[in-house]
Amino acid sequence: SDEGAGAGGASGARGGSGDRLTEQEMVSTCALLLNAGHEASVNATGNGWLALFRDPEQLARLRAEPDALLPTAVEELLRYDTPLQMFERWVLEDIEIGGTVVPRGSEVALLLGSANRDPARFRAPDRLDLARADNPHLGFGGGIHYCLGAPLARLELAASFGALLRRAPGLRLTAEPAWQPGYVIRGLRELHVGL
Ligand code: HEM
Repeated sequence: SDEGAGAGGASGARGGSGDRLTEQEMVSTCALLLNAGHEASVNATGNGWLALFRDPEQLARLRAEPDALLPTAVEELLRYDTPLQMFERWVLEDIEIGGTVVPRGSEVALLLGSANRDPARFRAPDRLDLARADNPHLGFGGGIHYCLGAPLARLELAASFGALLRRAPGLRLTAEPAWQPGYVIRGLRELHVGL
């Protein structure tokens, strides 16, 4: 509203302060959503298709019953080849993890892709299993910074994989793919396919 949610109170100032976003905040929020929302979804799509091409048995299974398998397939593709491999955290309290004391103030790098292949948590972690039911992967992170766009990403991926499976039943890999450099963001530079 023109008044802002805090109208009448101390925080009800107009013109870009208090409860209202300033123009700068709106622009940076749009940039955040575009960056956060676009690249990871693109990479999830490329990595996911590559994983399918490399496992023709699983791809055939998905082509045979896309509607039944897509929900678990999307989760499994995110687990199997995680688009965002690493995030950092600053430790607020001393904590012991796996026998190692991590002191308050430390900066830790969380390897999400590694956690997603943890044999202590996932049965046959290096196997792509599109029907995997017990799949608490960390592809969208965890805790208070859990991906804001996860529900949208899940919809996008199910829609795009479903559409390509239906409309391009012969889709196949035609060349070895090229990866982007770096390991924090894991994605393809290009994926050559034939119809
Ligand atoms: C397959 C697609 C996506 C993947 C794999 C992904 C992954 C992630 C991960 C791992 C984090 C956690 C970062 C952390 O723990 O610090 C995150 C945070 C975030 N994601 Fe996504 N994301 C995806 C799509 C999207 C989309 C579509 C949007 C928005 C339209 C989005 C918006 C955000 C935002 C705003 C945050 C920050 C949340 C916070 O710090 O509280 N993401 N995402």
